[in-house]
Amino acid sequence: MSILSLNEIYLSYSAAPLFDHASFAIEEGDRVAIVGRNGAGKSTLLKILEGKIKPDEGRVIVKQGLRVARLEQDPPMVSEKMTVGAYCALGIPENGELLSKYYMSIEQGDSAQSISLSAKLEEHGVWQKEGELQRIIGLIGLKPDTQLKGLSGGWLRKVALARALVSNPDLLLLDEPTNHLDITTIEWLQEFIKNFKGAVVFISHDRSFINAVAQRVADVDRGKILSFVGNYDAYLEGKKEALRMEEIANKDFDRRLSEEEAWIRKGIKARLTRSDSRIRRLKAMRVEHKERRARLGNVNLRVDDRELSGKSCSRNTKPWFKDGG
Ligand SMILES: Nc1ncnc2c1ncn2[C@@H]1O[C@H](COP(=O)(O)OP(=O)(O)OP(=O)(O)O)[C@@H](O)[C@H]1O
Ligand SMILES: [Mg+2]
Repeated sequence: MSILSLNEIYLSYSAAPLFDHASFAIEEGDRVAIVGRNGAGKSTLLKILEGKIKPDEGRVIVKQGLRVARLEQDPPMVSEKMTVGAYCALGIPENGELLSKYYMSIEQGDSAQSISLSAKLEEHGVWQKEGELQRIIGLIGLKPDTQLKGLSGGWLRKVALARALVSNPDLLLLDEPTNHLDITTIEWLQEFIKNFKGAVVFISHDRSFINAVAQRVADVDRGKILSFVGNYDAYLEGKKEALRMEEIANKDFDRRLSEEEAWIRKGIKARLTRSDSRIRRLKAMRVEHKERRARLGNVNLRVDDRELSGKSCSRNTKPWFKDGG
């Protein structure tokens, strides 16, 4: 049974909808890589899965009690004075903010506050969760009492990752997790995901990371989400075939449309015999043709041949679509 599914969702911010009656389901223990060109809607998809954004139409069906955590695409904004421990404690689903406040009271030397909070933490059984928090912070190579201010983008993303992990989610959503990370941390994350007992859905442009971790690849493209079983290489093959079939179908459609346009332009004799239903069908075909052009925008419908020739791509590049043209 799926732990989370999107059924025929529709979401639009502009003329061309981001999701146009798209469906997608996540199974227990799934490992799904989300791919797609810039602005296709990948980050929005993760926010819908997290429940942060509601689609305009369609159903989001979530298994009861499912714990979901999301790593954002960008490093967290740090405005106030905060330590790594205090920030990551906020990821603990119940009473995490109490532990966070406790750490800050220690940091600020406010002993009255820390004694009072300590009693509350005892009462709510939060201390039991502290060990796991410290363990995860340590695993990522951080120290709980480090100040967030002054940390680089890479370190801030590690902090955000630790915060997502401490919630012990059933579903972990990672938005471009390898961005800003050094190779050692990327390898650590690969192992972490392999051993993680919940499901992981991650957006990535990193071919080697996808190949190491994903069981399937979901492609966000012109309002739809298409799933391909296997790794990135299997996805490229599948996508190439899907585009080939689409091109054949489009050509066939265009040929029929031009035949109908020629028919309607015929002389008086033909016009006398023209049928209403045929004219209605032609009008519908014109609309469909216009919508397809709008969906396409300036996306060039070709999988990058360099990828198919087996040349590897560098990290953090977006190789499978040629934009423009
Ligand atoms: N709240 C919003 N209001 C209006 N437009 C939005 C909103 N959120 C996203 N968009 C637009 O929707 C489109 C998809 O955004 P999204 O961030 O989901 O894309 P993405 O696939 O994650 O792109 P990237 O690869 O650049 O991270 C973009 O054109 C974006 O500007
Ligand atoms: Mg994004």
